[in-house]
Amino acid sequence: MLYNTPMKNIVILISGRGSNMEAIVAAAKSQQWPARIAAVISNRADAEGLVFALQHDIPVAVVASKQYASREQFDAALQVQIDHFSPDLIVLAGFMRILTSAFVQHYSGRMINIHPSLLPNFTGLHTHRQALQAGVSEHGATVHLVTPELDHGPVLGQIRVPVLPLDTEETLAERVLVQEHLLYPQIIRQIVHGELSLSQ
Ligand code: GAR
Repeated sequence: MLYNTPMKNIVILISGRGSNMEAIVAAAKSQQWPARIAAVISNRADAEGLVFALQHDIPVAVVASKQYASREQFDAALQVQIDHFSPDLIVLAGFMRILTSAFVQHYSGRMINIHPSLLPNFTGLHTHRQALQAGVSEHGATVHLVTPELDHGPVLGQIRVPVLPLDTEETLAERVLVQEHLLYPQIIRQIVHGELSLSQ
């Protein structure tokens, strides 16, 4: 029951467009999750998604990665900003940074990511291009727990889409993204309701 479930603080990290963040914010509201989007934090001041967050009265913060001399310094500054919002769950939604082990370990068991491929296939960048070049008939997206090795944490959920004969990187990305917007909120809904555990 709703009143037995403590309110969870979710902090969402973005680097750009923020369409997954929008889908999560919309689902949290329409499905009345026992959770609040405590903040949206970006490593880029020009991330388009910040505008949406501000328009929806969600606190925003920018920790500009280019202003830090090292990955360790950036991650330490980011950690301070995130912890300011007492997060129960950190959601990487198009957050295009490689994270240090110390940072990942600090959020062990409470940080998740969406990656646009059927992991373990096609880690890293340009996943749609990688899928087309490999000639696979199926592609998709994966939500996983974040662990120190990039794109390798335990899988929490996946969606699959067919690769069509005339697909380009753009058409394939679009088809996957529509499904990402369903998958990511669905997984987070299960987590905030205690239906999906993140302990390994
Ligand atoms: C999404 O397709 C997400 O899966 C991908 O970036 C896009 C962000 O779009 N993430 C990664 O590639 C992480 N390695 P959005 O900013 O509109 O949510």
